[in-house]
Amino acid sequence: MSSQLLWYTTRATGIVAFVLLTGTVVLGVIGTARAASARWPRIVTAGLHKNLALTSAAMVGVHIVTTVLDPFAAIGLVAAVVPFSSDYRPLWLSLGTVAFDLLLAVLITSLLRDRLNHRSWQAVHLLVYVCWPIALWHALGTGTDTKLPWVLAIDVVCLAAVGWAVWWRLTLTDNQLARTTGILALAVLPLLTAIFVYLGPLQPGWAKRAGTPAAQLGSTTATTPSAGAGQRGSLTDASFTGHVRVTNGPADDERTITITGHTTAAPSESFVLVLYGPPSGRGIKFSRGTAQVGKPGTPSGFRGPVVRLSGHAIVAAVTGQAGKRRAEFDLTIKGSAVTGTVSLAVTGQQ
Ligand code: HEM
Repeated sequence: MSSQLLWYTTRATGIVAFVLLTGTVVLGVIGTARAASARWPRIVTAGLHKNLALTSAAMVGVHIVTTVLDPFAAIGLVAAVVPFSSDYRPLWLSLGTVAFDLLLAVLITSLLRDRLNHRSWQAVHLLVYVCWPIALWHALGTGTDTKLPWVLAIDVVCLAAVGWAVWWRLTLTDNQLARTTGILALAVLPLLTAIFVYLGPLQPGWAKRAGTPAAQLGSTTATTPSAGAGQRGSLTDASFTGHVRVTNGPADDERTITITGHTTAAPSESFVLVLYGPPSGRGIKFSRGTAQVGKPGTPSGFRGPVVRLSGHAIVAAVTGQAGKRRAEFDLTIKGSAVTGTVSLAVTGQQ
């Protein structure tokens, strides 16, 4: 499986797992409320609740396996269960780890329910109300797709569904502490989440602020020891400006997008990105691409294939005389003008 496919699978299974987790929480509340009708007996709710929970856990399982297999992120299996054991976006990844640990605890105690007393089982089961927001913040903080309008729409719908379920659940309890905590969480969590998304993932440079390791982002110096004096090896979030050109070809049913740009401050660097694919709206449905940073054939020149494209983000695996680099572009396109940031980092596979 290519890194690109693994990465798409991680993202897709993450989103599906989160939606299924949301459905599980909502159905759990409907079951607790003993809501039923002749056409929808309680046993259907209970069965669906259980199956959604198991499918969600299976999706999280695939999500973890593809994360671990993907060489780009370099996240080990231990990071799936032990928080802060990976240096890749530590906080945001660890929230996923904690959500997974809580989900496992809830699932295992539910499968062993007959052997546990009701209070112990319920105490663990209520942890799902902690697991869900933690999974949401993991998704928002680590997800490549957080910025996409349809992903944001899914997050809003899930937040509304769980908000409604929690509200309903609070009407069923006499526990005053649970009510106060619940109402407080209902008031504060959506607001904090909206502020976080606006100030964090929606702003440029989030990859760096989220804690992508220096080895992947590169250092702020333009020279690396392996590149030799004066040869360019790394850049971090260097601002650039440039322009975009869309042409037909090279195949009959293809379009080519050529993006050229140069950094707006030292270290001075230029790049060319060429993306190919069948036409889709005013752009293309990406099928392949190449990236070139610096002048090819010179010590500072790197070139190689585009390995990932998602929304505004483009990643290329480029090689030059100084070795292998990971080039990351964060683009904002307005008409034919493009601005954004470019990072060039040592991949560690030299
Ligand atoms: C209940 C558990 C979990 C849920 C519901 C969940 C869900 C999600 C979601 C919805 C995303 C965002 C996908 C996107 O926007 O593209 C995501 C991203 C991610 N998750 Fe999880 N996750 C969980 C646990 C984990 C664990 C334990 C790991 C670590 C092994 C992990 C690794 C990742 C990574 C690396 C990404 C970023 C993928 C990207 O580049 O976009 N997740 N997760």
